[in-house]
Amino acid sequence: MEPQQTARNLVWQATQVKEDQRRTLLRQSPVTMWMTGLSGSGKSTLAFALEKRLVESGHACFVLDGDNVRHGLNRDLGFSPEARTENIRRIAEVAKLMNTAGLIVITSFISPYREDRAMAREIIGDEAFREIHISTSLKHCEERDPKGLYSKARSGLIKEFTGISAPYEEPSQASLSLDTSLCSVELSTERMFALIKPFLLRG
Ligand code: ADX
Repeated sequence: MEPQQTARNLVWQATQVKEDQRRTLLRQSPVTMWMTGLSGSGKSTLAFALEKRLVESGHACFVLDGDNVRHGLNRDLGFSPEARTENIRRIAEVAKLMNTAGLIVITSFISPYREDRAMAREIIGDEAFREIHISTSLKHCEERDPKGLYSKARSGLIKEFTGISAPYEEPSQASLSLDTSLCSVELSTERMFALIKPFLLRG
């Protein structure tokens, strides 16, 4: 069935809770920190470090991580360009729901296509979207190869592997660029935290 057909007989149901009430309750305005970069660039490490930093300073947030989400919600998706687009679309919709609930969201997906990241920005809304480029070079990511996937991709065991046999399009609209081969986890986390500060309310 076409998506338009399934949506035709639906009526949006309104909440009685105001955005401001959620802001006051959680002492924050929602934002999505959208991290993009190659496999092994350090996205997950930084995402979970930032989550810990936020929770320890009393803020509600949650990490949506590529490997984790592909275990459940997106287990039906592979790595073709179309599957990656659908992966990003679903994540952006989930991030938007979480933002609507008042949470700060940190996403950690390769999200290699500019057009898909622009779609995510569009779904979530420009004012609540910050793109963070984890810009660690392919050379470093391949040297690290924490999951052994680059060596499998080089020997042809994994097809369409980002950086080897599938493209990565560098961001042109990133709010922040972090190379984890040059910048420590602590410093990178503080730089991302500084971007979130305007969204945090005191008291
Ligand atoms: S994305 O391109 O659709 O954004 P996502 O971040 O969800 O990718 O998943 C990437 C993770 O899947 C990688 O960190 C790696 O562990 C794993 N993976 C398995 N196959 C591939 C592949 N062909 N290309 C990239 N990552 C892959």
